[in-house]
Formats: sequence, C-alpha cells, structure tokens
Amino acid sequence: MKDLQRLADRYGTPLYVYDGSVLVRQYEKLRAALPQRVEIFFAMKSNPNLAIVALFRRLGAGVDIASVGELRAALRVGVAPQKIVFSGPGKTDAELEAAVAADIFAINVESEGELERVQRIAQRVGRRVRVGLRLNPPFAPGEGAVIIGGAVPQKFGIDLARARAAVALAQRLSHVELIGIHIFNASNVLDAEAWVKNAESIIETAVELARATGFALRYIDVGGGLGVPYREGERELDVSVLGEGLGRAVRELSAETRVLIEPGRYLTAEAGVYVTRVVEIKETRGERFVVVDGGVHHLLRPVLVGQSHPVRVLSCGGEGGVGVAGRCSIAGPLCTALDYLARGVELPVVRVGDLVVVERVGAYGFTESMPYFLSHPTPAEVLIWEGREHVIRRRQRPEELWAWQSVPEGLL
Ligand code: LLP
Repeated sequence: MKDLQRLADRYGTPLYVYDGSVLVRQYEKLRAALPQRVEIFFAMKSNPNLAIVALFRRLGAGVDIASVGELRAALRVGVAPQKIVFSGPGKTDAELEAAVAADIFAINVESEGELERVQRIAQRVGRRVRVGLRLNPPFAPGEGAVIIGGAVPQKFGIDLARARAAVALAQRLSHVELIGIHIFNASNVLDAEAWVKNAESIIETAVELARATGFALRYIDVGGGLGVPYREGERELDVSVLGEGLGRAVRELSAETRVLIEPGRYLTAEAGVYVTRVVEIKETRGERFVVVDGGVHHLLRPVLVGQSHPVRVLSCGGEGGVGVAGRCSIAGPLCTALDYLARGVELPVVRVGDLVVVERVGAYGFTESMPYFLSHPTPAEVLIWEGREHVIRRRQRPEELWAWQSVPEGLL
C-alpha cells in the first residue's frame, strides 16, 4: 500500500487501512490448496467489519460466528443461514433463540447445560435444532501456537472424557439433532505438518465417536488456527502441505460428512495496517519514546497477547521536532503504562509529523481493543477494493460517544 501518506492526509489518523487484494489473495490461496469438499467458514471474530464479511461471502465463504451481533451482521450482508455455524462459550438463551430463529446450519454446543437449553428453546418453537458438540481433546498442535485447547481445564468445549455422555444426552433430547463434531484447540499455527496432524486427530476422534455412539456424522468442523508470520525470520504457513494433508485425512470420510474449516487470522491479518502520526519524541532515563496519536484503545493485541508486530516509519518530510534514529519505544496517548504499540524497535530517522505504521493487524486488531478508554474518537477504517478506496467505518465523533449515555435530571 504505497498510498498510505495520501490516505492518512485524507482520512486523518489514527486509521486502519485494509488491502482488499490481500484478503482475496489469502482466500484464493487457501481455497486453491484445500480439497474441494472442505468448506471455508470465515471466523468473523478476527475482523467483523461488515464490508470484510461481505467480501468473503462474495468469494464463497460461510462464517463462524460467536455472538448474536455477529449473527446479525452475517445475515445483514447476505450470508445464507446454511453457511453459518455458531461457536463459543456462554451463549445466552437470547442468542440461541436468534440462531434457532435464523435456522443456521448448526450450533456448536460447548456444554451439556447448553444442550439442554437448546432443547428447551427448540421445544418452544416446535422443531428439531441441528447441533454439533465442541470437544476439548487432550491433544493440541505445536509449539509457538497460542494454545487455547489441550489437556487443561477450560471453558471451551466438552472434555473428551465426557463426550460419550454428552452424545447420549443429545440422543435423548427430543428436539436436538446431533449432526457434527467441532474442535478448535490452537491459534496461529505456522507448522503445516503440526496443523495436519492435529486435524487428523480431530477427524479420527469425530469418526470414532460417531461410530461408537451411532449418530450420523454430517459435519466435522476442524476449527481455524492457521498462522501468519509476525516476526522476522518466521516462515509462512505452507498451505499446500496443509491442503494435501487434509486431503489425505478426509479421503475415507463418507460423502455425507461436510468438512468445515474456520480460519480467521490467515484470511485477514496481513491485509490490515494501523496508521498513526508522531505527536512527540522524547527521551527519558536513557530510553527514547516516539509518542503517536494512536494506541492500545485501537490496537491492544501487541500487549494483550505479547505479540510484536512489524512497524515502519513513513517520513513525511516534516521539520517538526528533533529527528531520532535507533532503538525506540512507540507509545500511544493513553494514560496507562500499557499503552505501547511497540517496544525497543530499531527505527530510521523519525520526526514529529511522520507516520508510524503497524503492520499485519487485519486480524484481532481494532475488534480486540478497548475503544472507550479516554474518549478518543474511534479510528476510521478504509478498504481498498478493486482499485478504489471505501470508508467502511467512519471515524466516530466525540459527541457520538455520549449517544447511549444520559445524565439524571438535576445533575446538569
Ligand atoms: N473458530 C473458533 C471457535 C475460534 O474461537 C477462533 C478464534 C477461530 C475459529 C479462528 O481462529 P484463527 O484461524 O484466527 O486462529 N487473542 C488471539 C486470538 C484468539 C483466537 C480466538 N479464537 C490473538 O490476538 O491472536
């Protein structure tokens, strides 16, 4: 994206910019590598902007949703209910009711209690509801991945040891139709072989469980977890190895069994940048700080998961301040010691007025942040799509932050 200076001038900073051609490239690369029968369901949580969901729908993807908000957004941009699965712990009754009313493809149920709640809701509307069981297995792929599964107690899924009991319960419930198995147990896996090995275990687990308990396995959802390199020296995930491995793993499956994969990061991370402008440069106790106009209220991920992102300076030829080069920390404007976009990075000469661009933030970027702290306007988001730029979220005005607030009479 060579145009960032112009975009920053036109739309102001801080600003998110997404390159649609990278979104398309990632989708097509994965699509071409995967066996035809494997269906891509975009994990909306990685970037739920309507335009981005609409783009993946246009390319043929379904979606994996995690809330009623994501359900409404998916329906709003025309995702077919048959191409929606709903996963996530703590789905409320209202959310389950909305999913049942929309008649989505399946609800990935995370506990026996949730199964019973689906039963009650299904009974009320008088029809059977399709569910899959999300299992928490004792295996998980590779080092370096952000493990959210594995053999630890956790809120996600049903422990594999209880899976048979959960299946038996589903089979007893008159309005629940158990049709699938879902496992998502790690994110940001860069080793294709490790990812495939994990997928093989998922498929084996699902097939064995269905066989042993006698339910018709109409889908297996192998989760997401496809990684992208963030640090220098990290190698890209080899999707051809992944595709071939998955191809081998699904070869024996009955044609009746749909295979879903639900990537988020792989599709969106590399397409997004967060553009900030340098406000101050200062040195304190031997450390250099470049203070920019954006921070963790819009991009929490580096401090939230301890992941550094590539950072680059775009010189704007400004005269302001004293230019510095070398090791710096890039800090935002928030009154918290957490507010860093990067620490101890080597930068070229940087001056007040220059742009500092944080890269690979299209996944778990703005959506995983804390926009309300300090009442800054939310950033605009711009999508470059087929050679044109589109504002897909306009900057919020300060007054709009009050829109949902009210002051009791007499306090004004
Ligand atoms: N499916 C389910 C049920 C999920 O919970 C997730 C992500 C995905 C699919 C997509 O996973 P992906 O392909 O993007 O790895 N805080 C972390 C991200 C956590 C991912 C949560 N679940 C981060 O900032 O990297």
